[in-house]
Amino acid sequence: MFEEGAKLKILHGVDKVCDFSIGNPDMIPPQEFQRVLMEEAGRTEPRIHGYMPNAGFPHVREAVAAFASDEQKVDLTSQHVLMTCGAGGALNVALRAITNPGDEVLASAPCFVEYGFYCGNYGALLKLVPSTDNFDLDPKAFAEAITEKTAAVIINSPHNPTGRVYPEETLAELAQVLEAARKRTGRRIYLISDEPYRKIVYNGLKVPPVMALYRHSLVATSYSKDLSLPGERIGYLAVNPAADDSEKLIGALTLCNRILGYVNAPGLMQRIVARLQGASVDVGIYQAKRDNLKRIFDDAGFEYAEPQGTFYFWLKSPVADEREVVDALKKELILTVPGRGFAGPGWFRVSYCVDDAVIKRSAEGFRKVRKLFGEYC
Ligand SMILES: Cc1ncc(COP(=O)(O)O)c(C=O)c1O
Repeated sequence: MFEEGAKLKILHGVDKVCDFSIGNPDMIPPQEFQRVLMEEAGRTEPRIHGYMPNAGFPHVREAVAAFASDEQKVDLTSQHVLMTCGAGGALNVALRAITNPGDEVLASAPCFVEYGFYCGNYGALLKLVPSTDNFDLDPKAFAEAITEKTAAVIINSPHNPTGRVYPEETLAELAQVLEAARKRTGRRIYLISDEPYRKIVYNGLKVPPVMALYRHSLVATSYSKDLSLPGERIGYLAVNPAADDSEKLIGALTLCNRILGYVNAPGLMQRIVARLQGASVDVGIYQAKRDNLKRIFDDAGFEYAEPQGTFYFWLKSPVADEREVVDALKKELILTVPGRGFAGPGWFRVSYCVDDAVIKRSAEGFRKVRKLFGEYC
């Protein structure tokens, strides 16, 4: 997608292409990031750029634990937090530690495309579970999909690509399903909550705390989206202190953080995020972009799932094969992503972490393409 966009921009000019394909935030990090970056970068003590304990600098883990305790409504200490190379690194460390080859990992479809590859890295298999019609988790469908091979469930809220925030009742129901499965099969199933968009929610919505609802839970997250730092590869993995054998699990995770090749999360970024707990880009700006696009889609006559968070719009294709719509949009120099890449055929994704001018410029193309396909079939 990255290369495709770059090619079109060379061919037609940057100001002609509306690239809604990838979730690469265009917003600059909050002002305090620049200040803290300059201060931390100026430090010259010996080993300031050295290795640190495999789970990260103790003072950083402590700062993260204090903030995450508040978010998750449980008492995390530095021991329960590992600094990682983004949320992707956190998920890989968790899957390496939790799964054995041949195990199954469940996720609600549609989902972030990379989960399947992450599972495959360790010989585990991603099994997709259908979501409800409004893209909520379906705990009953999870109950049916669980087998003795199920090692973990990955959930993602706010959700990429649908923008859905799962309600607390649904999460509590899922927790009951997982607890019942443990009693039935004798195997604990870990719930891995992938939360890099936690702070990007609209209209004051709150993302419920998974750790308060299910004890065998882990939170994988990053500062990629809320601080606009995806290229700096910084995030963390937190383990619920109430999980059985949590110490043993943390030991395994810490080893995996090193042996998967990351060795440790970037030191400079660790020190910076420790000082920026709670900071975020202005989410109101994303909300305004969402509202502008909503007007464009309403005007054009597209059906969609209105995002409650993230910066993704999930649109229904007027024809069964959404690739036809994506191709037609491409001819208008509008880049979007077919839903089948997320196991969501018949839909397509518009990523709106882009300049307002791009959104404005896209209106005519969306209108033209919508007209081309007539009524929804
Ligand atoms: C749902 C989801 N999980 C994980 C990631 C990976 O995030 P990071 O860049 O922090 O590794 C992304 C990135 O887009 C994502 O959308």
